[in-house]
Amino acid sequence: MGALADLAVIGGSGLYKLLDGATEHVVETPYGPPSDPVTVADVGGRRVAFLPRHGRDHRFPPHKIPYRANLWALRSIGVRQIIAPCAVGGLRPELGPGTFVVPDQLIDRTGREQTFYDTGAVHVNFADPYCPVGRQTVLRTAAAAGIAAVPEGVMVVVPGPRFSTRAESRAYTAMGGTIINMTGHPEAILARELALCYTSVALVTDLDAGVDGDHGVTQEEVFRVFGENTERLRDLLLTALPLLPAEPDCPCGRALDGIDLPA
Ligand code: ADE
Repeated sequence: MGALADLAVIGGSGLYKLLDGATEHVVETPYGPPSDPVTVADVGGRRVAFLPRHGRDHRFPPHKIPYRANLWALRSIGVRQIIAPCAVGGLRPELGPGTFVVPDQLIDRTGREQTFYDTGAVHVNFADPYCPVGRQTVLRTAAAAGIAAVPEGVMVVVPGPRFSTRAESRAYTAMGGTIINMTGHPEAILARELALCYTSVALVTDLDAGVDGDHGVTQEEVFRVFGENTERLRDLLLTALPLLPAEPDCPCGRALDGIDLPA
């Protein structure tokens, strides 16, 4: 398929539609169909694709999302830079509901399949999992809009679909985590394996069980708080997208130098 878009947003819980006046594209991949047809529209003169990671009817729970198909589908239509919003829990009391965090690190606790390279010696650099240019663009956009986004964070990604016990949650804080979610990985490494820029924008919907001394985390509060902040998130994304440089000066696009894309 030829290039339909060079930028993309992978929407999380509560963000099932982003683009007005979009065209819809059914994309096939060697890994099966992505979570949903991809929609594409013009945003500030840039071609932007949108893919809801759970499907528009939220039929895929975190452990059933076709992560490989999603990343492959976006790359196959020309996408080179991705912004990936998601709901997260706060692992620190100061990161309460409604806070935006632009993480710079992650800790994978999922044990999920996480590569396109099932044969041969392919070991991609993942020391800094997120695109520095995408992160700065989102942070500058947030600052200009008066949104006090936290400029760094360590995202612990757990398998789900259950939330963590209090002891697990405290252990994640002790190991350096600041936020926690169920979908941030393997999305980030699969993007890197395709040499795509990937920027996570995390919206805190709750304090995780080890921080909250009360009832622990409920699905109701996660969806409610995300819903209360969808318009702010949408505005942030739609403002940041056209500000992403057409030719980003970052190492992401060189992640595969000397390595062939998987067949
Ligand atoms: N997504 C939103 N809040 C979460 C939490 N506390 N744990 C895991 N995933 C989440």
